[in-house]
Amino acid sequence: MWGAATASYQIEGAAYEDGKGENIWDVFCREEGRIADGSSGDIACDHYHRYPEDVAIMSEIGLRAYRFSTSWGRIMPDGVGAINTKGLDFYSQLVDELLDKGVTPYITLFHWDLPQALHLKGGWMNPDIQNWFAEYAAVVSEKLGDRVKHWFTQNEPQVFIGHGYCTGAKAPGLRYGLSDVLQAIHHSLLAHGRSVQAIRAGCPDGLVGAAPTGTVAFPENETEADIAAARKATFYVPGRGPNNPGGTNSWSVSQEPTWNISWYTDPLFLGNYPEQGLMAFGSDVPKYTEEDMQLIHQPLDFCGINLYSGWQVRAADNAFGWEEVPMPQGSPLTAFKWPVTPEILYWGPRFFSERYGKPIYITENGMSSNDWVDAEGRIGDYARIDFVRAYLRQYKRAAEEGYPLDGYFLWSLLDNFEWPEGYRERFGIVHVDYTTQKRTLKESAKWYGEICQSNGESL
Ligand code: BGC
Repeated sequence: MWGAATASYQIEGAAYEDGKGENIWDVFCREEGRIADGSSGDIACDHYHRYPEDVAIMSEIGLRAYRFSTSWGRIMPDGVGAINTKGLDFYSQLVDELLDKGVTPYITLFHWDLPQALHLKGGWMNPDIQNWFAEYAAVVSEKLGDRVKHWFTQNEPQVFIGHGYCTGAKAPGLRYGLSDVLQAIHHSLLAHGRSVQAIRAGCPDGLVGAAPTGTVAFPENETEADIAAARKATFYVPGRGPNNPGGTNSWSVSQEPTWNISWYTDPLFLGNYPEQGLMAFGSDVPKYTEEDMQLIHQPLDFCGINLYSGWQVRAADNAFGWEEVPMPQGSPLTAFKWPVTPEILYWGPRFFSERYGKPIYITENGMSSNDWVDAEGRIGDYARIDFVRAYLRQYKRAAEEGYPLDGYFLWSLLDNFEWPEGYRERFGIVHVDYTTQKRTLKESAKWYGEICQSNGESL
C-alpha cells in the first residue's frame, strides 16, 4: 500500500469552530516562546474546510492510501461523555470522500492533540486515561468502522510523552522526573491495549496496530558482528546514568532516556518490558502487574513505525558490544539538519519483523526542505525526490529479500504546522501558500504518484 500521512492538529485549522473542544496544542501555542515563529494550528492548512480539494489532490497524485488522525477534542470536546456530532460527521464525510476517489483511509486515533479537559485531570499521568481513551476509540470505530478497516492507536509515545512530559519541548511542556515519565508511558501502553479492544468491538473486521517511532542503528559493514551490533543498538534502552554510550549524532539513542524503541514496542508485541531496559531504569520503573502486561499485549495485525533518520554502528569490545560510527563530515542533511540515512528503511523492517514477527508499515518517512514556488510556478524539490528514492530503494531491497512489508506512508501530503517549528519546516509533497491557502503539487508529488501507481516498479 502506498500513501501519504498527515495529522489533525497540523492541517485542520478550525480550532474554535463547530463545537471542537480545546486541546493541549491550542493552549501551548498561545504560550509565549513555545513556537519558533509564534504561530499556531488555528488555521494551518484549513483542511477542515478544504478537505474535498485535498482529497481531489490525493487522487490527482495517484495515492492509494491516506493516513490521517482524528482529533479527540473535535469529537469529544471534554475528552469523555458528550459527542460533538459535527466533529464526528466531518471525519465521516472525509472517509466517504476518500472512498469515493479510491483512496483507502487509515486512521490514527491519537496524534498528540490531547483534550485540554483531560490534561487538567492529569493527562497521561492519570491511570483513568485508559478508560478515557477506550471510550473515544469506541466512539470513532463504531461510527467509521463500517468503512475504515485500518487503525493505528497512538502516534509516537516517544514524542508525546518524551517531549511532552520529559524535555518539555512539546505540549503540554512538562519536565517531570524519570519515574513519573515512565509512569506516563505505562499509562499510554495500557490505553493502547484498551483502545485495541474497543476498536475490535467497533470494527470486528478491522486491522489494528500502532505508530511508534525510533532511530534505527545500521551496520557499518554487513558482517555478522556489525549486524548483531546494529540490532542490539537499535533496541537498546539508555538509562539515566553515565552508562549511556555517547554519540555525535543527535539521533542516536543517547540523547534522552525516553528516546528508544523497545521500551514502547516490546510490551505491545512481546508482553514485557525489555530486560536490559528494566536494568537501566532500575527503581524508576513503575509498579505494574501481570494483568497490565496482558492488557497491553493485545494481538496486533501489523507493526507500524515512523522512521526518519538513523545512526551507524559497528561491533566494539566494550560493555555495550557496539559503538557509534560518526557520519563523515559534510554528510547529507535535510533542511531540519536531520541526517539522511536511507539504510534504515532496509534495516528497520528487517530488525522489526525479525523481533516481532509482524508485517511492517512505514507509517511515516520524509524530509523537510526549503521549498518555494519558482518563476515558472514550479516547486523543484529534487532533494526530496532523491531522499525518498534512496529510502525506497532500501525498502525495496527488504521486500525482495522477503521481509514482510505492508505499506509506506510519505510524511507529508501537505506542508503543515511543524509543531514547535511552526511553519518553518516544509515536509509536504504539496506546497501550501499559507496566505492564500493555494495548493501546488511539488515535483516530488508527480514523481511519487508514479511510484504509487507502479507499486514501486519504477524505483
Ligand atoms: C510526527 C509528525 C511530524 C514529523 C516531522 C513525526 O515525529 O509524527 O507529526 O511532523 O515527525 O517532524
